[in-house]
Amino acid sequence: MATKKEIPQMVRLDTYSRWQANEGIPVYDTFFVQDLKELELGPWGRTGGHGAFVNLEGAGDTNNCYVAEVPLGGSTQPQRHLYEEMVYILQGNGATTIWNEANEKHTFEWQAGSLFAIPLNTFYQHFNTSGDTPARYVAVISAPVVMNLFHNSDFVFNAPYDFIDRYDGSRAFDGDGELFVNSRGTFNIWETNFVPNADSFELYKRANRGAGGSYLAFELAHNTMVAHISEFPVGTYKKAHKHGPGANVIILGGQGFTLLWEDGKWDDRVKVDWKPGSIVVPPSQWFHQHFNSGDIPARYLALRWGSNRYHYRPGGADDSRGSTETSVRDGGGQIEYEDEDPVVHRIFEEELKRSGAICRMKAMVSGCTGVELEE
Ligand SMILES: [Fe+2]
Repeated sequence: MATKKEIPQMVRLDTYSRWQANEGIPVYDTFFVQDLKELELGPWGRTGGHGAFVNLEGAGDTNNCYVAEVPLGGSTQPQRHLYEEMVYILQGNGATTIWNEANEKHTFEWQAGSLFAIPLNTFYQHFNTSGDTPARYVAVISAPVVMNLFHNSDFVFNAPYDFIDRYDGSRAFDGDGELFVNSRGTFNIWETNFVPNADSFELYKRANRGAGGSYLAFELAHNTMVAHISEFPVGTYKKAHKHGPGANVIILGGQGFTLLWEDGKWDDRVKVDWKPGSIVVPPSQWFHQHFNSGDIPARYLALRWGSNRYHYRPGGADDSRGSTETSVRDGGGQIEYEDEDPVVHRIFEEELKRSGAICRMKAMVSGCTGVELEE
């Protein structure tokens, strides 16, 4: 009788995780980071700088975040790749040179607060011009999707193709752009490839997401990922809402907290206390609500899926029909103030007492012991 042949077990590969582990820098698996500026980094051989990956649970393997430093008085190694990358400068000054085979080199300067995207598969190199201060940035990359789809990192880093539809060398990184309104007419969009200072960039009123808030979306370098900045006044909080994975929320200004809970599991909610430099990613379809408990306006930057121009939202992230600004009563993903658990407001007022600020939600929330918001 023939001996039974062993059937080999199929080994499942997560190309992105394997690549990430091989990069040799720290990898933080977490829900929230309170200060990206304090995060410990390690030497990053491939780039010539320092870095650390931050695997935020709420990204759901759709995008990933890393923090990096450009060496003092030096530069990173040139590189190109087939995944998108958005960069926000946390600290320091520097410059970045972009080029491809079809177009000559273009260099632009940045500072703490600058926001830009590396056009897809262009070569780029970062320079630190801060003197003796480290130049540190946080980046959100679509690498998990791209690397796991092709499962060939040589291709992802060495593809000899110039996407002239993304970068044709004609558009300077000078902060110029064009203003649009989204297809539902509910918010404005600034199309550009460089935002000199996201911390102070002028926003536009957007009433449907909550008290006195302002907003602007940023379409960068013809990406499929998108950015937006939201700011809300002292003594207010935003409406709770839910959507798909991968919205990396980075606090630019102010002090406050975010409540996050899985639909139907309010009692198991998570609270994170933030300040400038914090990052949190709400897990897919978890409700989340941002509260300003400090004494200046709170401003955050979201680096996420959902370009208003190029449709693609992995992991059920689709809110193109406006579900994140439509009440759950109407089948959307937003909880209007009048529908929220009264505990929400009590938590907020408790927190305000600690900071000495006055609640300004009287016109919006019954039971509010504060004052009306002046606009
Ligand atoms: Fe959100």
